[in-house]
Amino acid sequence: MSDKKPHNANANGHEKIEKNVGLMAVLIAVAVSFGGLAEIVPLMHQAEAIEPLEGVKPYPALQLAGRDVYVREGCYNCHSQMVRTLRFESERYGHFSLAGESVYDRPFQWGSKRTGPDLARVGGRYSDDWHRVHLANPRDVVPESNMPGFPWLGGNPVDGATVARRMKALQTLGDPYSDEEIAAAAQAVNGKSELDAVVAYLQALGRHAPRGG
Ligand code: HEC
Repeated sequence: MSDKKPHNANANGHEKIEKNVGLMAVLIAVAVSFGGLAEIVPLMHQAEAIEPLEGVKPYPALQLAGRDVYVREGCYNCHSQMVRTLRFESERYGHFSLAGESVYDRPFQWGSKRTGPDLARVGGRYSDDWHRVHLANPRDVVPESNMPGFPWLGGNPVDGATVARRMKALQTLGDPYSDEEIAAAAQAVNGKSELDAVVAYLQALGRHAPRGG
């Protein structure tokens, strides 16, 4: 007993912290926030550094109008637009999705609900005519389909003024639309229906993705 060494100064400091709940809480908060900062700060810079993949541009007027119809009709409730980094996914759909493909998607349509197949790579998989028939009544081309039909799209004209305003708004947010593109938007969608617009949008999906799995 008598040969027990006295605590050294360091151990005393530690003991003080361990016995003082308030001090302990403050120091834990400091330690955790350093850990949090070390993890979060690099991610903030990474998000800013995401560049569009080569060829990825803001949606042209007609495709943008189609995208709005896609969102309005709730297609995302059954379709994701994100191929995951899993072998069976890339074998079915194509190369897994990359952040640089969706830099101009506001809001992005990645989703996770898949009542129907993922659409991130659907561009060019079918003809325009196939899409027209399919969207009006899916069972005409896929008899077992439980996708609802959207027969009214063909009768709804695309409003050029609205599309131009949307492009203007996106330009304000930093999307590189030129003023000429915005001025030409109404002309570009003149006489087009919402069905034309959705088909144009679908046909553009995944066109700039890397090839292969
Ligand atoms: C209630 C769920 C549901 C909704 C809502 C829905 N779909 Fe589908 N979709 C499906 C199902 C199920 C399939 C697979 C069967 C088929 O091809 O019809 C499918 C298939 C598709 C395909 C073919 C994909 C492929 O790779 O074969 C396209 C394109 C498509 N949908 C587009 C749309 C668009 C555009 C909308 C919105 C206007 C929409 N879907 C809304 C369920 C849905």
